Amino acid sequence: MNSHQAKFPRLQSLWARLCIFTVVSLVLFWVFLPRHESHFPPWTASLAQELGHPMFPDIRSYEQNLPQHVMPSLLSKGTDRPRYLFFPNATWGCGWNNILQEQLLNTHLAYLSDRAYVFPGYIARDHPPLPDTLPNGDRHPLHIPANAFTSGSTTGGPLSSDGTDRLMRRAVSEEWYNVVCPRTEVVTLDLHGTTRELGLDDNSEGVDIMDRWAKKLSEMTAPCVSVDGGPLFSYVIFSSKRLISLWPSYSQGPALKYFAWSPLVTAAVFRNFQLLSQHPPPQALTPTGDRPHTFRSFPPYNSSAPPILGLLGIHLRRGDFKQHCYRLVREGLEYNAWNQLGTPEITVRPVLHPSTPPGYAWPALPDYLDIRQGQSRGDTAFDHCWPSAETIVSRVNAIRQSAESGGAFPSQNLRRIYIATNGDPSWIGNLAVHLRADGWDVSSSFDMQLTLEEHTVAQAVDMSVLAGAESFIGAGFSSLTSNVVQIRLAGGKHPETIHFW
Ligand SMILES: *[C@@H]1O[C@H](CO)[C@@H](O)[C@H](O)[C@H]1NC(C)=O
Ligand SMILES: *[C@@H]1O[C@H](CO)[C@@H](O)[C@H](O)[C@H]1NC(C)=O
Repeated sequence: MNSHQAKFPRLQSLWARLCIFTVVSLVLFWVFLPRHESHFPPWTASLAQELGHPMFPDIRSYEQNLPQHVMPSLLSKGTDRPRYLFFPNATWGCGWNNILQEQLLNTHLAYLSDRAYVFPGYIARDHPPLPDTLPNGDRHPLHIPANAFTSGSTTGGPLSSDGTDRLMRRAVSEEWYNVVCPRTEVVTLDLHGTTRELGLDDNSEGVDIMDRWAKKLSEMTAPCVSVDGGPLFSYVIFSSKRLISLWPSYSQGPALKYFAWSPLVTAAVFRNFQLLSQHPPPQALTPTGDRPHTFRSFPPYNSSAPPILGLLGIHLRRGDFKQHCYRLVREGLEYNAWNQLGTPEITVRPVLHPSTPPGYAWPALPDYLDIRQGQSRGDTAFDHCWPSAETIVSRVNAIRQSAESGGAFPSQNLRRIYIATNGDPSWIGNLAVHLRADGWDVSSSFDMQLTLEEHTVAQAVDMSVLAGAESFIGAGFSSLTSNVVQIRLAGGKHPETIHFW
């Protein structure tokens, strides 16, 4: 506040400052955003500037210039034409990891339906990474373009490894969808009505939901289809075993196979690489071209890239999670989403998808929500959810030993730990002391040097490290961990390099 007034001594009123910001940002907007930008109108930009929120100009320009963002007539060949699938009521107000879970499945549905998935930007309503309340008390949540987090097939990247996929099936931004699908051309499906029409309900298997919706959506001739009324894949299915039947088909689809972190995330990992390894950064993280490096200089980092040698990534979900753990235990909930893949009964269930080859092998994660001898379910679940410092130290030691002897996968020489955490820094600092005493090099989320833009996606930066580490220990009840699990598996990491507390 004071430095502000020192810089503009005569501009005492908020309104005068707002006016200046509006003019400046209008000019900036015309420079950086010459095309469609309905989602982020200039007055919003001026509020963002007032709050010191980053504007992500490079990333917005990258999104606008995606090669599929051209008029449909230029993409269509013969009778085929671009077709779109939009979910305006996808999960709202939840953390980014809940949204990512859902977006990946919706991308798979769009793929099976021969439609381009429409990706929205992210509005940080939950766990805001920066202050977002104006001096007058109004809240203006931070707007983050989707490609600040990921740049794989869900956010407009290729649907193949060699770029030979059809441009017209690549995901488009919500802004572009609004350009090519004016309201009058949009055919709306009501989520609940269609669910009933397809013979689905709250007990349906994930694979049936996916297949019946895909059939319906691919048979529709309307190019612009919007599914309104709520999320198709909501937290209800992510906390249920009904999800698992989707894995054989979904894990082979482009949404997960061609998942990649954004170049912004890559840049953050590249610059902080000395915290993760004593080796120089690998090719998969290295920018091309001359300095200064921009968003476009960095490759989108994916987990098919070679692992970060010697690194054990651990996820310690702390903070408000303790209350959440009590609730999870009380309600007898399962592990979140793909973290259930270790549950013994899952690996013996029949595969429900007709396209899956006979003898399909489920990825057998070694850990699950087991009930320890002599303990109640609740006590065991709480220990899995909220491990003590002693448990953590002895567990990582055991995993270092078993990874060294190899067996199912090539032997690992784990020497460093990266702690991805939202915990209390002094508790984490104390834990680090004990880990160092046990011979580990230790770094954590708190050591990462991030730019303001990178800071807004710090969770994704942490996750890219956990997904790239040679071995990983996660929190079974956490959606962040579940997303790391699916990305590791899709990138070809051995299931036995994936553990839970
Ligand atoms: C769904 O989205 C549409 C379009 O943005 C909006 O008009 C409608 O109110 C939303 N419905 C729900 C249930 O959120
Ligand atoms: C993942 O990254 C590696 C290394 O940069 C690259 O060679 C590979 O093509 C990428 N894989 C996919 C599926 O995009």
